Amino acid sequence: MIKVGDKFPSATLKVMGPDGPKDVSTDEFFKGRKVALFGVPGAFTPGCSAKHLPGFVMNADKIKAKGVSEVACVAVNDVFVMDAWGKVQNTAGKVTMLADGSGKLAKSLGLELDLVERGLGVRSRRYAMIVDNGVVKTFNLEEGTGVDKSSAETLLKGL
Ligand code: BEZ
Repeated sequence: MIKVGDKFPSATLKVMGPDGPKDVSTDEFFKGRKVALFGVPGAFTPGCSAKHLPGFVMNADKIKAKGVSEVACVAVNDVFVMDAWGKVQNTAGKVTMLADGSGKLAKSLGLELDLVERGLGVRSRRYAMIVDNGVVKTFNLEEGTGVDKSSAETLLKGL
């Protein structure tokens, strides 16, 4: 499992651009700047929609005021779902919605969450991290699917 001090793994994610889905290389995304990244088990799921993502939308400007260049959310969902979820949650200009559609990043991070029996397949554990120039500086991991350690408020307190 990823830990503080590790280099963030190289992976290709997707983001919705004006002309459709675009690749995002994690190496490029994290290069030379500080990013707040949080991972969620699933777009549109109750805890992620009612608490985790809204907390980051609400606190994005405060997080950025502490020297963070971008706040991003990642889930094992396809780019169309992540885009639709972002629109419903008014993330524009606040939180970038990244798709780890096939779960390759969750696997590389060692953060896979088996929700097969709940009908969601293999997703990602819930976490928040600060990645500074590609290196993990803060890593707040939840034990279950609840939102506490990985919340925007907790991340902000540590900045
Ligand atoms: C949630 O409430 O965020 C959640 C519910 C079921 C599976 C995964 C996440």
